[in-house]
Amino acid sequence: MKNLLKIRDLTVCVEHQDNKKIVNQVTFDVKDAGIVGLVGGSGSGKTTTGYAILGLLDPALSVTSGQIEYKGQDLLKASDSEIRKVRGGEIGMIFQEPLNAFNPVFSIGYQIDEMLQYHTDLGKNQREARILELLDLVGLPDPKRLIKNYPHQLSGGMRQRAMIAQAIAPNPDLIIADEPTSNLDVTHQARIIELFQKIRTELKLSILLITHDLGMVGHLCDEVAVMCKGNIVEFGTAEEIVSDPQHQYTKDLMGALKL
Ligand SMILES: Nc1ncnc2c1ncn2[C@@H]1O[C@H](COP(=O)(O)OP(=O)(O)OP(=O)(O)O)[C@@H](O)[C@H]1O
Ligand SMILES: [Mg+2]
Repeated sequence: MKNLLKIRDLTVCVEHQDNKKIVNQVTFDVKDAGIVGLVGGSGSGKTTTGYAILGLLDPALSVTSGQIEYKGQDLLKASDSEIRKVRGGEIGMIFQEPLNAFNPVFSIGYQIDEMLQYHTDLGKNQREARILELLDLVGLPDPKRLIKNYPHQLSGGMRQRAMIAQAIAPNPDLIIADEPTSNLDVTHQARIIELFQKIRTELKLSILLITHDLGMVGHLCDEVAVMCKGNIVEFGTAEEIVSDPQHQYTKDLMGALKL
């Protein structure tokens, strides 16, 4: 399998804190149609790594070295307009709290449509048909009614599905999902895992999955990178990491997650 995303020696520093390194020489790959889990304790640098890939870092942070190669193009050297095309269009993002990621004053249908308008050439009717198809694909009931709903009118599980629909709308090749199940109860977590399995099989997407959920790692990931204080301390197949962790930090993390 070819590598879709190659991250090499990525280092991110906090400028106003004496260039403290919060992501330190991070190196890993995401293969075509592969799912890589990025796991680690709170503050280990997972979200920062995801944001660096999408060019969404807080202005207080800067990438001081490394390459982020997507389909052979170094995203760190890409122009703003090139990055805007990749972000959302080629690489979709699923944020941890969809209520914050959606704009409260626009309907769900309008916000998915914006994505399609920006990243595809589809006409109005084609876009509407596509939105209904997407909402159906992610398992949301009554898409025709839902299209007119505002984010706060949906339950947490439904919002997460709508967010997934929005992320996959322009047919991206890679999705970065940041803790997509952390605000859901166990039943809804299991359903979101099933949905990821489905979109992976049907759409042949690659996924970088930031998660604390060992169920997600075991059920979805091919490979796992373990982060501790900005460093990748272990990388292996999901099976190796879950059942036979080598590094003490991974052993502790897996023990804590199993509780
Ligand atoms: N804008 C910022 N300014 C200063 N420090 C920051 C900034 N953003 C992140 N950090 C610090 O960088 C470290 C990594 O943060 P990050 O959000 O990437 O961690 P994480 O692994 O996603 O954690 P969590 O599991 O809690 O979401 C943390 O110590 C955090 O405080
Ligand atoms: Mg985070």
